[in-house]
Amino acid sequence: RMYKRQMIRRRDIDNLNVPFLAIYESLIPPEEEKVKQRQLLALLEKLVNKEWPKAQLFIYGSCANSFGVSKSDIDICLAIEEANMEKSDILMKLADILQSDNLQNVQALTRARVPIVKLMDPATGISCDICINNLLAVVNTKLLRDYAQIDARLRQLAFIIKHWTKSRGVNETYHGTLSSYAYVLMCIHFLQQRRPAILPCLQEMESTYSVNVDNVNCAYFDKVGRLADFGRPNKETIAQLVWGFFYYWAYCHDYANSVISVRTGSIISKREKDWTRRVGNDRHLICIEDPFEISHDLGRVVDKRSIKVLREEFERAADIMQYDPNPCVKLFEPY
Ligand code: CTP
Ligand code: MG
Repeated sequence: RMYKRQMIRRRDIDNLNVPFLAIYESLIPPEEEKVKQRQLLALLEKLVNKEWPKAQLFIYGSCANSFGVSKSDIDICLAIEEANMEKSDILMKLADILQSDNLQNVQALTRARVPIVKLMDPATGISCDICINNLLAVVNTKLLRDYAQIDARLRQLAFIIKHWTKSRGVNETYHGTLSSYAYVLMCIHFLQQRRPAILPCLQEMESTYSVNVDNVNCAYFDKVGRLADFGRPNKETIAQLVWGFFYYWAYCHDYANSVISVRTGSIISKREKDWTRRVGNDRHLICIEDPFEISHDLGRVVDKRSIKVLREEFERAADIMQYDPNPCVKLFEPY
């Protein structure tokens, strides 16, 4: 299945830069959304600190990692040291505190895989999920945001890929397809692999940022302002990269043996990670190593049926990029 099709240069590929960039621009959230998010965060902080003066709130996920499209819900993490309280009790209490104000639909989901409190703020129209002490997510959010600052093509590519995943229905972890977080890591990996490389591997560089979270040392080079010229030698355009991305996942990735690893900036073997067979529900059919929780395979949600769906979608997209007269329409056609 690998290298089944040769990538033939399509001479008109660069005609697609303008329409792809237009899609990207149309997805960028307007500044007033950011203002509203900060307002809501300030309100929540005020309410939370009345009960827990030392607790802190952090925005993570798409509203903070710079890969969020317009109208995203916000993901918030409550950092709190309550040694004597069960997480589910903290969540119930939190729901209580927030209920008393004029927030709507406040619900504690204590039995979800990631337990959260959900709510909607009528003043701003924003919905949010609040989880407890998920500080690794806060740190990986910073990593993604730092990568995005190095080369503008990452954010452009990731927006277009996320838009594609949502149009094609392959961004649903409960149906066995991948999270947005996984797709952004696939984009970063892809740009680390280009020659010349468009992104460096920040975790392999001298660390200027280092924190310990849940017994994991998270360290990397975060002075990304110094890397503004890193991607310059590579002149590939966004249209070429979108095509290259689909081609890579359709025909170049070795699903049987390889793990993609943003942490090392390369491919590592499944054997090395002992991800060669099914363990419990983890089938390891497509392997994406989390940059900090390195025992986490973000592809673990993928099963025998959905791996087929995913690979067929990558092939469909690669073929459209190769042959279709109007790829920008066909690519995003609802499934
Ligand atoms: N996350 C994680 N591990 C996962 C999935 C998610 O740590 N297996 C964390 C990441 O910090 C990620 C955040 O949860 O940034 C939100 O994940 P997700 O909803 O997949 O990504 P978003 O960027 O919020 O995308 P969307 O716009 O689709 O909501
Ligand atoms: Mg999200």
